[in-house]
Amino acid sequence: MATEASAITERYTRPAEADHTDLSITDSYLTQMLWRFLKPYRWQILGVLALMFAASGLTLLLPYLIRQAVDGPITSGDLSGLLPLGVVYVLAIFGIFGLQFGYVYWLQTIGQNALVNIRQDLFEHIIRQDLAYFHQTPVGKIVARMSNDIEALTELMSTSIIMVISNLITLGGIVIVMFLLNWRLAMVSLAIIPVMLGASLFFRVHIRGVASQFHRIIAAYQAFLNEHFNGMLVVQLFGQQRRVRDNFQTILDDYYNAHLGLRDMWMVYSAVLQILMTIGMALVLWGGGRGALAGWATLGTLIAFIDYVRRSFTPIQELSMQYAQIQTAFSAGERIARMLSVQPTVRPPAEPTSIEDFDQSIDFDSVSFSYKPDSPVLREINLHIEPGQRVAVVGATGAGKTTLVKLLARYYDVVEGAIRVGGVDVRDLATADLRRYVSVVPQDPYCFNGTIADNLRLFVEDVTGEQMREAAAITCADRFIDRLPGGYDFELLPGGANLSQGQRQLLALTRALIHSPESILVLDEATSSIDTETEALIQQGLERVLAERTSVIIAHRLSTVRDADRILVMRQGQIIEDGSHDELLAAGGVYASLYQRQFENPAAVIDELIA
Ligand SMILES: Nc1ncnc2c1ncn2[C@@H]1O[C@H](COP(=O)(O)OP(=O)(O)OP(=O)(O)O)[C@@H](O)[C@H]1O
Ligand SMILES: [Mg+2]
Repeated sequence: MATEASAITERYTRPAEADHTDLSITDSYLTQMLWRFLKPYRWQILGVLALMFAASGLTLLLPYLIRQAVDGPITSGDLSGLLPLGVVYVLAIFGIFGLQFGYVYWLQTIGQNALVNIRQDLFEHIIRQDLAYFHQTPVGKIVARMSNDIEALTELMSTSIIMVISNLITLGGIVIVMFLLNWRLAMVSLAIIPVMLGASLFFRVHIRGVASQFHRIIAAYQAFLNEHFNGMLVVQLFGQQRRVRDNFQTILDDYYNAHLGLRDMWMVYSAVLQILMTIGMALVLWGGGRGALAGWATLGTLIAFIDYVRRSFTPIQELSMQYAQIQTAFSAGERIARMLSVQPTVRPPAEPTSIEDFDQSIDFDSVSFSYKPDSPVLREINLHIEPGQRVAVVGATGAGKTTLVKLLARYYDVVEGAIRVGGVDVRDLATADLRRYVSVVPQDPYCFNGTIADNLRLFVEDVTGEQMREAAAITCADRFIDRLPGGYDFELLPGGANLSQGQRQLLALTRALIHSPESILVLDEATSSIDTETEALIQQGLERVLAERTSVIIAHRLSTVRDADRILVMRQGQIIEDGSHDELLAAGGVYASLYQRQFENPAAVIDELIA
């Protein structure tokens, strides 16, 4: 029977189950959503329904033919009269097979097409979301929506709904034909059906409970695997394997128990159905036998009824099975609908402004920002950066440097104030334009599965080998790429695991140079994991590139920032000093004392000094 999940399973389903929307999904909303995906196929669906009607009709004909044969040629001994009936019977069977093949084939095609459309829609919807969404939503959850849930939904659209309709048609047809043939015998034969429906309803509730429990356990299983495989390094470093194994075992036990619970439920249910069917059959024999003796039913009718009653059991069984599946699919549909209803807070402008002559200036106008209300991360930032200026930003960990960049690239919208590039508010620029104007090399760059060249090109075919080599020479990435087996064709492991952190940074830097030849360049500690010697070389290489562009360079090493036109020192979300290296030294403030101390101790980095 229904099992309770352990605390561990609960823990892993909690975050994965919470959706960041209060929207309650009504059945009509869900139906509308499903209809949106099925609508393009409505004529095909009608065609499928027509085939189904025909197949059900032919199925109903079979027992009737037997009755005709028994009451006609067989009773009268006229065997030649049997032949046409036999031929029709065989033809009907072939017809049924043909029709069934036709609609199953057609239906699967429709289902697969709808599946592709839903996946596409959901994927497009997800990649339109802002970064805040990805910070709040575990990747495992998105993957589960894109795989399991869509699968369940397709099952519903391609099979379940149609099976239900087909079964209802067959069941309804059987009842009508029975009443037309002999209403008295029909009453006796159908007496058991309400009892069967009642039993199915009873079990349905329980099976549904176990089925939703199942979903939670599978979600917990996935979340658990996701978390631990991602964090395997920590698990192994701290010798946590044993605890992790035990927790995994607990989730597996829950899974096992839920399976057994479901099995028990089905076993009892099918046993009950079996008994009821036997009783039903006994009723037909009893009633039909009496009818035949009393003369209100013929032998042929009795045989036909036995066949009809037998055929009516299958739809009932299937309907109750389908019910569990439809429940699963509906809850999957609900989760998908919820995901589809999330709207990004960072929205592209309705009427984007285009910049005629982009001059690479940057303005921050009284910008304030917080990720969560009441805990400000940036406070009243005012900043004007001239075109072509090279600006370095320094500050302790958590001072808000990366946040500054995220706002500039409009990963988030400012809470107060405005940010302009080339004189235009970033909120008024089309996303593609903004990406062209501002190019960010992030703190922890990501590498995709593929070769070094794929990662530099980002799979854009028209980037030439020439362009790649040129950019790699500037960033000094060529020095390590040339040493790799295969050079630019060297295959990266997922996430670039077979490169060092510094090598990944070099790739990201090269990638930025290739893809945005004329943009403002923002380097968020893009060279923090690269040794000082190589960094000095990169600085030289970048000199020419940076001379023509506005750049914002966040760095921890003072050696990196010394040559900037202007240095901003940040502390707790504010810019506390602003000026060139020499000016700041002369002013004798925080930067000056930092520099002095680092000069005495070259190995020190800024955050140790500034905090
Ligand atoms: N996604 C987020 N949600 C909530 N708070 C965040 C988020 N990202 C950063 N913060 C908070 O904002 C503050 C500034 O973070 P930010 O990443 O801008 O620091 P930083 O100066 O780049 O630090 P570092 O030198 O370590 O990279 C931190 O206190 C951090 O806790
Ligand atoms: Mg940072």
